[in-house]
Amino acid sequence: MGHHGDWQLGIYLDGLGGTVPDLPMEFAELERQAQAQMPEAIWSYVSGGAGNERTQRANVEAFERWGLMPQMLAGVADPDLGIELFGRTYDTPVMLAPVGVLGICEEAGHGDLTTAAAARSLQVPMIASTLSQDPMEDVANALDGSPGWFQLYPPNDRELTESLVRRAEAAGFEAIVITLDTLNLGWRPRDLTIASFPQLQGLCLANYFSDPVFRAALDRSPEDDPAAATGHWATIFGNKRLSWDDLDWLRSLTKLPLLLKGICSAEDTRRALDHGVNGIYCSTHGGRQANGGLPALQCLPEVVEAADGAPVIFDSGVRSGPDVVTAMALGASAVAIGRPYAYGLAVGGQAGIEHVLRCLHAEIDLVMSIDGYPSISGLGPEALREIRR
Ligand code: FNR
Repeated sequence: MGHHGDWQLGIYLDGLGGTVPDLPMEFAELERQAQAQMPEAIWSYVSGGAGNERTQRANVEAFERWGLMPQMLAGVADPDLGIELFGRTYDTPVMLAPVGVLGICEEAGHGDLTTAAAARSLQVPMIASTLSQDPMEDVANALDGSPGWFQLYPPNDRELTESLVRRAEAAGFEAIVITLDTLNLGWRPRDLTIASFPQLQGLCLANYFSDPVFRAALDRSPEDDPAAATGHWATIFGNKRLSWDDLDWLRSLTKLPLLLKGICSAEDTRRALDHGVNGIYCSTHGGRQANGGLPALQCLPEVVEAADGAPVIFDSGVRSGPDVVTAMALGASAVAIGRPYAYGLAVGGQAGIEHVLRCLHAEIDLVMSIDGYPSISGLGPEALREIRR
């Protein structure tokens, strides 16, 4: 498939009849409308980052360092945006990163299911977070056979960890992504200022509250005593002592492809692969966890080199089609977005997420075609130049 860029023709044609898009075409406007839609505490949680948000900004700004060298008269009418990951082919390299509060990004409170429906309608893979408002089985049902991965926050309890992995397998998720950069919560001044952390209000804990192992550890059920269940969750959420020694055990839990999210160095990449991990997810959690670190994009080339052909998923700071193209040229196998689609969800529900994805797909398609590159998975760093300031 291709021709994602042709979508713009329909918009211009509609314009002849006086109709303009009812969803924002520019990221800044999407952000503005999302803020207007979301309650203050949710906006703070979604848009904010760690510390003074230096890393969050650096993630976005890192893309401004690179430019794609155009190749004229290359005759690329229909660039191939397709990729292959773990034996599945995908129409484009864009994925939906795990976002833990999707459930409450839409008023009806089922944002995880809405996201799954959007992912399904465009066949874009969704990485479902552990922190969802509806249980993973319902998210998988909403995906209805379209590609989904499960993101695991490994809790401080091996039996519960195993239970979550088993459920993800049984629900039909096709890979497990273990997030390593959030075994402890980052320092988030915006949320601290309003003293708000959604999960402590019992929100987005459905995967725990529905889990037999989690429930067995409670005196009273989460339905009867949600505050006690939430309190228990707070004690088991992050296994801060998790180390490389635990990885073999985590690996042994599943035959599904296993990826580690939050890996940014060559050394960690090699260690992960030595422990039998199938893919690396290079990410700084969108600058939400450790402030003061490097932008994820700067880390990508060394991760790709050390991965030595193993898939590398990338996220953090991707806001446009050219950003996706740049990350692919620097060696990513696929590129995920976080905040942009959470904003789309807040602004327009399922249609809002689909709109964000269509905009990205169209822009990737047009940039590839205009600059004369026939295949996104064939792009390499030689297509990029550093912008001189
Ligand atoms: C996240 N992210 C995240 N990651 C993860 O592994 N599990 C999770 O539950 C969450 N939750 C979450 C909530 C919110 C509100 C945001 C914005 C992000 C991180 C996410 O997967 C991804 O790494 C970043 O969002 C990528 O950066 P951008 O695209 O937001 O800049």
